[in-house]
Amino acid sequence: MLSFFAAHDLNVTTSSTRRRFLRLSAAAAAAAAAGGTIAHRSFAHTMAGVPGAKAGGPVPAPEARAPAFPNLDPNTLARFVDPLPLPAVAQAAERRAIPGKPAPRVPYYRVAARAITSKLHRDLPPTTLWSYGGTVPGPMFETQSGEGLLIEWANELPSRHFLPIDHTLHGAEEGVPEGRSVVHLHGGKAPPESDGYPEDWTLPGQSRTYHYPNEQAAALLWYHDHAMGINRLNIYAGLFGLHVIRDGHERALRLPAGKYEIPLVICDRDLSADGQLSYPVSADPARPWVPEVFGELHLVNGKIRPFLDVEPRKYRLRVLNAANGRFYRLSVPPGVMVHQIGTDQGLLPAPVAVAHVLLAPAERADLVIDFTPHKGSRIVLSSDSFELLQFRVSEAAAADPSELPSSLGALARIEESAAVQTRRLTLDESQSPVAESTGMLLNKTRWHMPVTESPRLGSTEIWELVNLTDDTHPIHLHLVRFQILDRRRFDAFQYMTAGTLRYLGPMMAPDANEMGWKDTVRVNAKTVTRIIVPFVGYAGRYVWHCHVLEHEDNEMMRPYDVLPA
Ligand code: C2O
Ligand code: CU
Repeated sequence: MLSFFAAHDLNVTTSSTRRRFLRLSAAAAAAAAAGGTIAHRSFAHTMAGVPGAKAGGPVPAPEARAPAFPNLDPNTLARFVDPLPLPAVAQAAERRAIPGKPAPRVPYYRVAARAITSKLHRDLPPTTLWSYGGTVPGPMFETQSGEGLLIEWANELPSRHFLPIDHTLHGAEEGVPEGRSVVHLHGGKAPPESDGYPEDWTLPGQSRTYHYPNEQAAALLWYHDHAMGINRLNIYAGLFGLHVIRDGHERALRLPAGKYEIPLVICDRDLSADGQLSYPVSADPARPWVPEVFGELHLVNGKIRPFLDVEPRKYRLRVLNAANGRFYRLSVPPGVMVHQIGTDQGLLPAPVAVAHVLLAPAERADLVIDFTPHKGSRIVLSSDSFELLQFRVSEAAAADPSELPSSLGALARIEESAAVQTRRLTLDESQSPVAESTGMLLNKTRWHMPVTESPRLGSTEIWELVNLTDDTHPIHLHLVRFQILDRRRFDAFQYMTAGTLRYLGPMMAPDANEMGWKDTVRVNAKTVTRIIVPFVGYAGRYVWHCHVLEHEDNEMMRPYDVLPA
């Protein structure tokens, strides 16, 4: 069993960033502006463990008109009353030729991003969201490895945003269109012109057709907005969905499939008392950006705390953490067997029995859960103290021809000697004189500065991610998949003052459930995390960034170039 998850791994939610911040929800800001005492539960929660912290702090100017609703208290909502929705499978409209190639013709889909309303819970009024294809999450693409597809991403969003834009962020200046959007297929090996470069956005009324060759192994990918400077708001609004790639190797394993394979897209949100999305703002109305968002309500496939009827047999759960900034640590009660069989980019070499599964934003876990011995039980999937989903296991016995093989296929570890270059890249945080975070950077370099990472197509590199901050950052590279080599604690103070790397502990191997191909890696506070990356696929401009979306939107993202071989 995996039992080791270091406390520092557990994020962000317990990290010192929280202590350094006075984070105001929109409601709290309004209350503070009105001179009221803030006693609302959600605010008290965000301030938990903040020695001497007082609500009020810097009082926003009266023109900071935030909604006059306190956030909805999750305890007021009945638990497990909505059935878990399953995303509809996207249907191709026709077959079309890939631009520049007359044959073969590949499935062609059209998906529009637009505003919708959706009931997030039985007892709530409809909530305004932004959606791909009319639902949140959007339609799920079911695809085959090696069989490409075309998706026309149409922007039919309103021209004004409904969440608080920070116009001081790069790319989000006053006058930049608010309804901009661009779609990235996270984990997809796509040519640069189809990768969804953050500045390559469309306006409402425009569309762009992207080609996804799908020349990669079976995996659970996801698509989401990536618009410069407002990505966190667009994803919070609902612009995300799943893209599954299948292959023959996976099919031969006879894992639970069909209605026994369940996608679970987990995220957190705050709602106002009238059930509308509430995105937190800082105390400064001119700079509403906040460094982290932790919602009080947890949604699975777009519903708050739903339930799922299951049979007493094995199920495969395809889990995505689609939260802006929250790390989930998933568990079921002891006695319910869960094996992790895959990570971001496909299957592990062998199933790993897991007591907890830690997922940073954008990470995926492929799990097999066995309900066979639990006829008639109700089993809750939780993340620490948060209940996420209830499984209701039926009484009647069920046939189960599926298998949990002891081996899932060879997965060669890449030798370090295969790397032609090692890059040392820092994760940095800048602070104001009163120790407020003013932003995070990669290698002390802002987005608009010249490209500094230019691997050659076909080469393998080691990236040594030196985290000087007090938070775990999930670092994601577009285009590629990689393996985690190791993590090692180091003396950050010495590094910052003398520039030398002094290790404070032994090299730690990745966890057993991280031994597969990854596209997002947790870089723990004050550790050096090394990944080994074969740059295969396409030459061109891509990006790498932190997947805490508030960090990404505020300069913790860099372009990189894959140079032609
Ligand atoms: Cu989920 Cu730039 O990616
Ligand atoms: Cu980050």
